[in-house]
Amino acid sequence: MTPPHETDMKGVVLAGGLGTRLQPLTLALSKQLLPIYDKPLVYYPITNLILAGIREICIISSPEHLPLYKKLLGDGASWGLSFTYIEQPKPAGIAQAMLLTEDWLAGSRSILALGDNILYSPGLTGLLRTAVTSTAGAVCFAYPVRDARAFGVIEFDEDGRPISLEEKPERPKSNMAVTGLYIYDATAAERARGLSPSDRGELEITELNRSYLRDGQLEVVQLPRGSTWLDTGTLEGMVTATEWVRAVEQQQGFKVGCPEEAAWRNGWINSEALSALGKRLRSGYGEYLCDIAKDAQ
Ligand code: G1P
Repeated sequence: MTPPHETDMKGVVLAGGLGTRLQPLTLALSKQLLPIYDKPLVYYPITNLILAGIREICIISSPEHLPLYKKLLGDGASWGLSFTYIEQPKPAGIAQAMLLTEDWLAGSRSILALGDNILYSPGLTGLLRTAVTSTAGAVCFAYPVRDARAFGVIEFDEDGRPISLEEKPERPKSNMAVTGLYIYDATAAERARGLSPSDRGELEITELNRSYLRDGQLEVVQLPRGSTWLDTGTLEGMVTATEWVRAVEQQQGFKVGCPEEAAWRNGWINSEALSALGKRLRSGYGEYLCDIAKDAQ
């Protein structure tokens, strides 16, 4: 088992939004609680934060849905970490997360993960652990896509330095999309306060990132080939993600986006605790936790 690993950076998972493109699935349920194969969608970004070594995680959602997240995740103690819950009274853009968490962060740096993004890459743990130690004011992760018009798009100069950032441009300057994982220094809330809502009425995360770019403070990590980034905001996206997770898990025998396993590999819970978590779940997921705990003993 790898030695215990952690950082004093805090994690934020944004699980708000109305999920309008998925209605009627989202009329009674929060989008990030919908299943992606064998687990709720929000498990995937939470797992990445754990892999990054983040032990204090805040979940943001609407007043209506927040109790469901508390029911699912609790205080985090059984996973060896801590969850805090903050209400987002009305969805007003991703950058609003930095305003809502300002007091809780209390000057800490943060890593913000969108609750509906699945990111999986060979060497992701190492990549994340390097990124959290970056001295840049902000770090974001870019990934090539066929059609970048639905995303934040980043343009690089010949030396691979970021030179422009645009939100959902009609004519993208590159095919590099900005994924839903961002690292910020303590100035993020102050910068977010200076933003005005966009045409779609949102405090755009791209505008926050642009403020860092203007100051020469934005580092962009290009995800290596072979990485997978799935945005599950549409029905097609959800089905694709489900099929992908199923294929990977069945072929490898390992689970993708399994927070209990990530916490155990970090040394935050021992094999006995992992096995106890597995026994509580009367499903193949529970059996998996028991099996990996047993194999290690
Ligand atoms: C948001 C961001 C966009 C980013 C995307 C990643 O888009 O605004 O810059 O590329 O998440 O999933 P939205 O989900 O609001 O369409």
